[in-house]
Amino acid sequence: MKQLVIIGAGGMGRTLYDSARESVGYGIDYEIKGFIDDNIHSLDGFHNYPPMLGTIAEYVPQKNDVFVSSIGGGARKKCIESVVCKGGQFITLIHSTARIGSNVQIGEGTTIGAFTTIGADAKVGKYNMIQSYSVIGHDSQIGNYNRIDTHVTLVGGTIVEDEADIHTGAMISHNVVIETHSRVAACSFVIRKVKSGTTVMGNPAKKLM
Ligand SMILES: CC(C)(COP(=O)(O)OP(=O)(O)OC[C@H]1O[C@@H](n2cnc3c(N)ncnc32)[C@H](O)[C@@H]1OP(=O)(O)O)[C@@H](O)C(=O)NCCC(=O)NCCS
Repeated sequence: MKQLVIIGAGGMGRTLYDSARESVGYGIDYEIKGFIDDNIHSLDGFHNYPPMLGTIAEYVPQKNDVFVSSIGGGARKKCIESVVCKGGQFITLIHSTARIGSNVQIGEGTTIGAFTTIGADAKVGKYNMIQSYSVIGHDSQIGNYNRIDTHVTLVGGTIVEDEADIHTGAMISHNVVIETHSRVAACSFVIRKVKSGTTVMGNPAKKLM
């Protein structure tokens, strides 16, 4: 059986642990081995979790190990690449309550949380973290290394490029493009393209100066 290693043991790592225990294939294809985190004390004071296995920098992938990442923001891609460079294999985790529409494509290393819906014909790339209760509308296209928090709605046809952070409760309107390395603040309603490297917030969302 595959041994799942969760990258990052903060709040999102512990949340991803719970999600992994409820995802398709748990106990059949994989079991959970533990966490890696550059702060090896991040689980101190928390109970009933699998062990801290070491730092991301130093951990050497073992036979049967597979990985998912809970790290968001600018460090997400770097952490994932550092594990891939050492031969680490990532798996796709889909919570058993998620609704996946017709012809949806989901790349390796992407995690999909509880009660999230991925609409018909959407394409979701690699190494994305899509949390719980979110909606990825029909025909949306999501690139790689994005973080999409809980209760986010991407209306149909939205494009999210790479390494974006879309925070809790944000709503992205029809056919809007969220460019690489941008951030959408919690509870924003985004009606226009978000340019690469910018942060937007509010309703309608405007660039943070
Ligand atoms: C996008 C975000 C990261 C920006 O953070 P930041 O760059 O540190 O910006 P600040 O918090 O300093 O806020 C800058 C300004 O925007 C305002 N602001 C912050 N978040 C806002 C929001 N969601 N909507 C509207 N205004 C907001 C602040 O009040 C502040 O205004 P001021 O300069 O007039 O005081 C932050 O707004 C956000 O959405 N965080 C995500 C929270 C979340 O969902 N976490 C999930 C954890 S699992």
